[in-house]
Amino acid sequence: MTTENKSTHSKRILLLGSTSFTGSHTLNSLKDRYSFRTVGRQADSVDRQFDVYNDDISALSKDLDWADVVVNCFSNGDVDSCEVNPRPSAQLNLDFPKALCDFQKKSDFHLVHFSSNAVYDGDNPLYSETSGHHPINTYGRLKSEADNYLKDNSAKLTLLRPITMYGQLLGEQRHNPFSFFFDRLQNNQDIVAVNDVLVNMLHVDVLTQCIEKVIDDSIYEEFNISGDDIVSRFGFVSEIKRHIPSSSSIVTETDSSGFKTAARRPLDTSFDNQKMKSLLGVHPISLSNSIEALVAGAISKSLTDDDIRKAA
Ligand SMILES: NC(=O)c1ccc[n+]([C@@H]2O[C@H](COP(=O)([O-])OP(=O)(O)OC[C@H]3O[C@@H](n4cnc5c(N)ncnc54)[C@H](OP(=O)(O)O)[C@@H]3O)[C@@H](O)[C@H]2O)c1
Repeated sequence: MTTENKSTHSKRILLLGSTSFTGSHTLNSLKDRYSFRTVGRQADSVDRQFDVYNDDISALSKDLDWADVVVNCFSNGDVDSCEVNPRPSAQLNLDFPKALCDFQKKSDFHLVHFSSNAVYDGDNPLYSETSGHHPINTYGRLKSEADNYLKDNSAKLTLLRPITMYGQLLGEQRHNPFSFFFDRLQNNQDIVAVNDVLVNMLHVDVLTQCIEKVIDDSIYEEFNISGDDIVSRFGFVSEIKRHIPSSSSIVTETDSSGFKTAARRPLDTSFDNQKMKSLLGVHPISLSNSIEALVAGAISKSLTDDDIRKAA
């Protein structure tokens, strides 16, 4: 799938991990505005095949020279897998961003990289860009170390730190809280959700608006990116269920002590997103309105998919 748009007016964007949740939405929203070259593991979905575990960054040198902006969505965001397999996770989440940053000295591109709310311990919200990092799991430690290296060594860096994201899946990505709970509610499956892990959850479209702004205006800063409404997983799924009255799923709340996971989870990493609003001019809509629109879109898509299946 070639996505290069030859417009001479637009910036040239090398999108690493175009099949990711963030990358797929970035491409979908911004493909008409910029000239994209996509990179990833799946040969039939990208312009340049590249696997961080098997390939050296020098294989991308022509693409990195071509790019005005490199957006790095490569990551292992599965926090339990990072805890259990720290070495390969470090290759993706730390060594590769460092290598990109070192390459920047030769190629002089603008690097847009993603951090995570997992750099915080969750004990003292709200967290802003100036809050100290105290990660409590391996994923958070790798993200924090990458942040520090990039901030010390890159002259043209935008560090975007999204909080937990939700939205429509545009491909085969891992579930996000919306896609996971929507599927269960549609299939009338019962749900147990935690009521003590809190975030001002982020619609992925808000992140793509921020990406567009920092690319357009060449903004080399660090931003904590979140929605406005602080919500637990239980609150989030209850809001989705409110918009699917036909679902017979029973939703029960519990605290996180009942869920055994390999990696510890910080309890409340909610962000102070004032810098995002004031410098980027991006203002999220309310959680309720955003979920209402997502449910309507997902129901209409599942009806269309049903029609296509019946006609086949
Ligand atoms: N999603 C969230 O809620 C969230 C929250 C905070 C921070 N973040 C950060 O935001 C960024 C984007 O996250 P995301 O959720 O959009 O990512 P994602 O959907 O989990 O996608 C990860 C990407 O990394 C690629 N990848 C994995 N292993 C690879 C390898 N060995 N070589 C090359 N590519 C490889 C995947 O390719 P395949 O498609 O081939 O698997 C995919 O494109 C990440 O830095 C993440 O840490 C995300």
